[in-house]
Amino acid sequence: MFIECTLSGNRIFCLSDLHINAERLDFFKGLLKNLEADAILLLGDISDQGETHLVIDELQKGLKIPIYYVMGNHDFYGQWIDLVRNKAKSENYLTKRSEPIYLSSSTCLIGHDGWADGREGDFFTSKIIVRDSFEIMDFKGRSIAERFEKINELADESVEHMQEQLQHAKQAGVETVFIATHVPPFIEACLWEGEIADKNWAPHFASKAMGDMLRAFFLENRHMKGEVLAGHTHTRAHVQILPNLEIFVLQPGDQT
Ligand SMILES: [Fe+2]
Ligand SMILES: [Fe+2]
Repeated sequence: MFIECTLSGNRIFCLSDLHINAERLDFFKGLLKNLEADAILLLGDISDQGETHLVIDELQKGLKIPIYYVMGNHDFYGQWIDLVRNKAKSENYLTKRSEPIYLSSSTCLIGHDGWADGREGDFFTSKIIVRDSFEIMDFKGRSIAERFEKINELADESVEHMQEQLQHAKQAGVETVFIATHVPPFIEACLWEGEIADKNWAPHFASKAMGDMLRAFFLENRHMKGEVLAGHTHTRAHVQILPNLEIFVLQPGDQT
């Protein structure tokens, strides 16, 4: 099921985890073309082949509305993370924007890919071996300790970026910030088979560093409101983290 978000009067269709391959590209092109929306927001895992910039170009062809997006772990499969990010030249790739997208004088959209940082659950004893370990060049052939160090680095980098964007939003007097990120920042919103992800899944599902930063920021800035939009777990969730901070986790379309 696709979720429609009305952000400040703008009808923005948010979709996550489309995992588009060559066979499914035409289906999604048709789907987006027929939407009555002001913009589209893709929350990562757009494709599985390290060619997300080409998929975005294809999807954007003939569309009069912008596609804003962040990437997910699958977008880097078969590639180096930096290489994929560098190929995405679009201004609409939120990870590469230092400035928010202002939807109105009181609302903006910010974002970063984010990364599951292994700090929830127990990364070192987890029985789950994620495909990232051998599909993404940055992890391939690395020891578990090296992979842990790398995922920490990626998550911390995304936190730094988001902090910078939040400061811009604050200085601009924004009241509501929509925060797009592939990986849910709060373990409470990471569900697996109806339950909060256990110690095996949690390290691969949540970005604790991002959650800690967002919680601290919105505790300190109670006059602002944060709406986090994420994907990755493929399981829908909605959790009120603070009175002024909530998270929606989207799952892929049932018909895909
Ligand atoms: Fe996914
Ligand atoms: Fe993912």
